[in-house]
Amino acid sequence: MKKEEWLIKGYVTESIDKSVDLKTEIRKLCKEKNAVILAHYYQKGEIQDIADCVGDSLALAQWAAKTQADIIVLCGVHFMGETAKILSPDKKVIVPDLNAGCSLADSCPADKFAEFVKEHPDHTVISYVNTTAAVKAVTDVVVTSTNAKQIVDSFPKDEKIIFGPDRNLGNYINSITNRNMLLWDGACHVHEQFSVEKIVELKKEYPDAEILVHPECKGAIVKLADLVGSTAAILKHAVKSEKKNFIVATESGILHEMRKQCPNKNFIPAPPEDSTCACNECNFMRLNTMEKLYNSLKYEWPVIEVDEAISKEAVKPIKKMLDISAKLGL
Ligand code: 13P
Ligand code: SF4
Repeated sequence: MKKEEWLIKGYVTESIDKSVDLKTEIRKLCKEKNAVILAHYYQKGEIQDIADCVGDSLALAQWAAKTQADIIVLCGVHFMGETAKILSPDKKVIVPDLNAGCSLADSCPADKFAEFVKEHPDHTVISYVNTTAAVKAVTDVVVTSTNAKQIVDSFPKDEKIIFGPDRNLGNYINSITNRNMLLWDGACHVHEQFSVEKIVELKKEYPDAEILVHPECKGAIVKLADLVGSTAAILKHAVKSEKKNFIVATESGILHEMRKQCPNKNFIPAPPEDSTCACNECNFMRLNTMEKLYNSLKYEWPVIEVDEAISKEAVKPIKKMLDISAKLGL
């Protein structure tokens, strides 16, 4: 074992013999070790296919809170692993590649956010789940894109609120709840990339297409939408819609499940501004591979650790979110 190399790289670097059937071996390891694989819709299709559960950020947190497994392999990004670890501190939580970060979480450094909160002591702090544990520790309630509107609505209209870190989601929630929450100026580099012009062009080509947009996208893209919603809401809408064509403005990994559930419908990924790159794929999410997943299960590494004092504070706003969501039937 070259553990030093793993530590530097952030994942198990051991090469795997070509004869190993990864799908079979991964499932075998899960059974032997009582491990569960939770995958986000932005993971590579083959990882979604082998996972025990595939869902959006809210669903991942809900499953992590209630699983009976000894090991949770979170095929997603670091903050998702942290949330799982905070909710299930006695379990081993693995993210196959520790480099799977998040530009949105990075746009909100904990020390700067804590200062901002201190400057506004009369404000309730609502944070998107795409934040580090340290940001959650200075938060009153966490939200995801599935429950943000309902949770904001649960506060009186005159409540002073700080909303962070996503300015696009914050602006969208302000507009649909008629509020003026104070916003942190953060964003996701993937969702900010979509091009208005290219979506308008696609709409000319497919005039009957519905445009489905994630609220992390810029306001100009949200304005074009027939539906604005989380990945789970986008999927649900596509399943029940009578339309045949859909232009999808979120990370393109969601198209895998959309095509599985609706094989006769046509899903077109919204193009990014710069079409020379696959900017509608999250480079962090795509760091997880079948090989890294297999190795992480085999060696039970890399594990997510959260400082105990931070975890003790961060669990409160996460549990608050889960409680409100349960009451709302989300
Ligand atoms: P949801 O899972 O809430 O749709 O959020 C998408 C996202 O960007 C996760 O990083
Ligand atoms: Fe973060 Fe954006 Fe990637 Fe989601 S898609 S993990 S918000 S960088």
